[in-house]
Amino acid sequence: MTASLFQPITLDGLTFPNRIAVAPMCQYSAEDGSASDWHLYHWMNLAMSGAGMITVEMTDVERRGRISHGCLGLYSDDNEAAAKRALDAARRVAPAGTKFGTQLAHAGRKASNRRPWEGGGPLQPGEDAWQTVSASAIAYDTGWNVPRALEEQEIEQLIGRFADAARRAERAGFDFIELHAAHGYLIFQFLSPLSNQRTDRWGGSLENRMRLVVEIAKAVKAAAPKLMLGARLSVKEWVDGGFDVEDAIEVAKALKSVGVAYLCCSSGGNSPLQQLPSGKGYQVHLAEAVRKGAGIPTRAVGLIDDPRQAEAILADGRADMIALARAFLADPRWGWRAAATFEEPIHPAPQLARSVTTMEHWMKASA
Ligand SMILES: Cc1cc2nc3c(=O)[nH]c(=O)nc-3n(C[C@H](O)[C@H](O)[C@H](O)COP(=O)(O)O)c2cc1C
Repeated sequence: MTASLFQPITLDGLTFPNRIAVAPMCQYSAEDGSASDWHLYHWMNLAMSGAGMITVEMTDVERRGRISHGCLGLYSDDNEAAAKRALDAARRVAPAGTKFGTQLAHAGRKASNRRPWEGGGPLQPGEDAWQTVSASAIAYDTGWNVPRALEEQEIEQLIGRFADAARRAERAGFDFIELHAAHGYLIFQFLSPLSNQRTDRWGGSLENRMRLVVEIAKAVKAAAPKLMLGARLSVKEWVDGGFDVEDAIEVAKALKSVGVAYLCCSSGGNSPLQQLPSGKGYQVHLAEAVRKGAGIPTRAVGLIDDPRQAEAILADGRADMIALARAFLADPRWGWRAAATFEEPIHPAPQLARSVTTMEHWMKASA
């Protein structure tokens, strides 16, 4: 019997050959938002990982929405052309059926930062810093930039920027779009009662706080109707009085009703005060709660790195797909590792074919 990990899944008409996903991972290696040679290598490498779903990385819909000077964007013709180049190359080496998506985002008050390997945290004077924006003028932490609260008319423009980026994503050749409503970036800054203290129709009640993500989803769907649309949500903020699972279920229902086909269930990222209980599979219960509560397919993520652990989550009906981030950096053939574990076929590029028996041997030896 085929392992659950290797059963195909269809989301809004788009079929993925297996349930293994590469989670989005910023590479901080773009040039004014454009994919570089690093992305060419990285996307081609991920294309040969055995994962059926590859969500490349947080991709910002405007320049000031980038976390850092190295973040990827889809706000210019150059960005679109560079993404197309890297994506075309990745497709040429990917097994048939592999699907690629972009994660559309805006960093809001967490923009204008240094790259992680430059120490992270806000850009300093002389480092080409910029004014950040958010739901309210509340900084992420002491010492961080105080954002400017977006005006009503700017919010409408922002929704338009997501739609523009979605059109670019479709032209560049992506199969799906994931909205980044997690990790304390702009969409989540609106969702959280801690970072959103607006008194207009974009703040206050949950219905008002979720208006931005729902309107963005509708606009993106209308702008790129051929692309499947999903979203990543911080289901829990891990701060007293913050956004929590019951809120996430309501958001999931609203997103489902406007055509969002899956929810990747992550958590945290909006406050330095968060009490995040990291450990193996620490967010799986969130994917399970949203799946049951909202009836939407979910993708589980977070310290899932063992094929048998991943298989059990699916077989127990706790999620519909499994995403891995760091494990794919450590082992870009993790999908092969999973296939060899369950004696499923591996689909290598012909240049790599002679390594398949090595992977099978390793997995038998470690069983
Ligand atoms: C290098 C790196 C970059 C990341 N960039 C993103 C990103 O662009 N978008 C996002 O939603 N999450 C991002 N994340 C979070 C991962 O997608 C994932 O949710 C997290 O690492 C937990 O999964 P893991 O235990 O399999 O690594 C990033 C993580 C890493 C390690």
